[in-house]
Amino acid sequence: MGKFIVFEGIEGSGKTTQVKKAGDYLAERDIPFIVTSEPGGTQLGKEIRTLLLHKTSLPLSIKAELLLFAADRAQHVDEIVVPALKEGKMVLCDRFSDATIAYQGHGRGWEIDTVRKLNDFSSGSLKPDLTFLLDVPVDTGLGRVSSRASNYTIQKGIKEKLDDRFEKENRSFHRRVREGYLFLAENEPERFRVIDGLMGINEIHHEICVSLLELIGR
Ligand SMILES: Nc1ncnc2c1ncn2[C@@H]1O[C@H](COP(=O)(O)OP(=O)(O)OP(=O)(O)O)[C@@H](O)[C@H]1O
Ligand SMILES: [Mg+2]
Repeated sequence: MGKFIVFEGIEGSGKTTQVKKAGDYLAERDIPFIVTSEPGGTQLGKEIRTLLLHKTSLPLSIKAELLLFAADRAQHVDEIVVPALKEGKMVLCDRFSDATIAYQGHGRGWEIDTVRKLNDFSSGSLKPDLTFLLDVPVDTGLGRVSSRASNYTIQKGIKEKLDDRFEKENRSFHRRVREGYLFLAENEPERFRVIDGLMGINEIHHEICVSLLELIGR
């Protein structure tokens, strides 16, 4: 079995940046891996992702939101993650079950135990071997995101801001999410590596590589 490595953190904490660099690092060493993400790691997931994040004018109850994340995860685990692990590949995943505990549990206020049960159901109780939590203050994360180029689409030659349901949430929502993540990490110190996301991109990458090498024993 390959190893399942997850990158977590609030918006703009640097997950996608670090997943990509970690992938480049494994590729250089000829270690088989895939890079994937939630929501949106499958064809179905891409449709669900659009509903969850970008159709911001579509009424979406917080229960339906929770269940759409679960549906995305169920498909992703069965179609992508488990087959890759069975082929012996490392799976680098941008967000997983802890995000649902942090966002829908701590952020939206769902009972944590309910979210956990749903996570177990949708993922078949799959747990990451290692989880990097990129921790940044809310203002830093949201500040980075608002200036990020991929937030924009070019339509008819005009640069337009792409809406995101979570980026539109207030600061206290994001603060609860951040605290939720830190609480999870405190309770499972052997699985989590909490990384100061204020460090430089390369410094963070180096810390991640040290942990990855430790995990794969090379
Ligand atoms: N350590 C860092 N220091 C400064 N800027 C960074 C750092 N890491 C990433 N960035 C920049 O911040 C922005 C957000 O980074 P990135 O897209 O990797 O975050 P993310 O956690 O994937 O965000 P989201 O949750 O919205 O997907 C990007 O423009 C990226 O280049
Ligand atoms: Mg990202």
